[in-house]
Amino acid sequence: MVASAPGKAILIGEHAVVYGQPALIAAVGLRLTTRLTPASEDSSSTVELHARELGGRVTTDWPEIVDYATQARRRWEHYTRTPGAAGFAEVRGDDPAHLVKVALGEAARFLDEPGGPPLQLHLYSDLPIGAGFGSSAAVAVTVLAAYLTARGRRPSTRDLEALALETERRQHGMPSGVDGAAVIHGGVVWAEREGPGEPLSITPLDLTSPHLSRFRIFDTGTPAQTTGEVVAAVRGRVEADHGTFDPILERMGATARAFRRELAGDRDDPESLMDLIRTYQADLEALGVVPPAVRELIRRVEAAGGVAKISGAGALASPEGGDRPGAGSLLVYQPEPHRLDDLPFLEPFPHYAVPLGAQGYRVETPS
Ligand code: PMV
Repeated sequence: MVASAPGKAILIGEHAVVYGQPALIAAVGLRLTTRLTPASEDSSSTVELHARELGGRVTTDWPEIVDYATQARRRWEHYTRTPGAAGFAEVRGDDPAHLVKVALGEAARFLDEPGGPPLQLHLYSDLPIGAGFGSSAAVAVTVLAAYLTARGRRPSTRDLEALALETERRQHGMPSGVDGAAVIHGGVVWAEREGPGEPLSITPLDLTSPHLSRFRIFDTGTPAQTTGEVVAAVRGRVEADHGTFDPILERMGATARAFRRELAGDRDDPESLMDLIRTYQADLEALGVVPPAVRELIRRVEAAGGVAKISGAGALASPEGGDRPGAGSLLVYQPEPHRLDDLPFLEPFPHYAVPLGAQGYRVETPS
């Protein structure tokens, strides 16, 4: 059984989506693949996990996986009662196979089974890991979809969304669920909560805008803080000063709605879209999630006729002594994108000219 899934890039809406504003997320055309095959060993409960990202080969078994996922769930429930960076570090732990074990354990729980059949699981990724491309959502979705389909219980979209969100919670604490939605549906999705405390409601959009081919993604380096830490710091700022931050979050929502109209409408007006990206980026800077070195880089893109915004949580500060400013993905828009190829200040950053709006997750059953 093989399942593959794209990565994601947040076009607009990060941070504000946590406060009930909408977000627009695109699936990106780099894929992560999970392949499941029957295990080579005789033991009835052996599970072999193979992936470069897991440090090579990990051998485990179903009792360990189910116990691992149960303990991780308990630690997460405890963490949600008293959220904090230290509590979250305990939820995540340092097992390189954490996410895969949680996904398999949650799948067994969903099937109401105490374990599963012996298997081998291989992960392959074109997606850079830990660079804001949603690789953890892609791991969660492909492992869940491949395993459940192999067990004859291909999940509905709704079940897969819920299981992927549950799995991602052990990786990110309290994610909004936008990554999983983009990875599952593909294309470009609109995510919005219908009310406070409600789950995200996802609308796949049928967009063919020429704007989508004018974005490039640059990797400014892994942030020194996790998404959970950055989200928690923003929450602290908002709660300490609603008078300043509530209007900013409202404007971010309005900018995201206008951005969607630009992408969905008939007119092709790069200037209007660029204005919206500049406005949203200024508000992200006001939230304090764009370190000075990244702001400087964005000003240089603007001076060269483009616009740019961080895509994802950003960072509270650059890593000390790092060679890159470290705010994760940078989404750059330029009406003539080939002009970005000649900008020397962008050269140090890995660059992805990936198609936006790629196909969502896919399961291939061997014929
Ligand atoms: O850093 P990423 O790509 O996982 O995106 C985080 C997006 C936030 O809005 C900051 C948090 C969330 O869960 O929506």
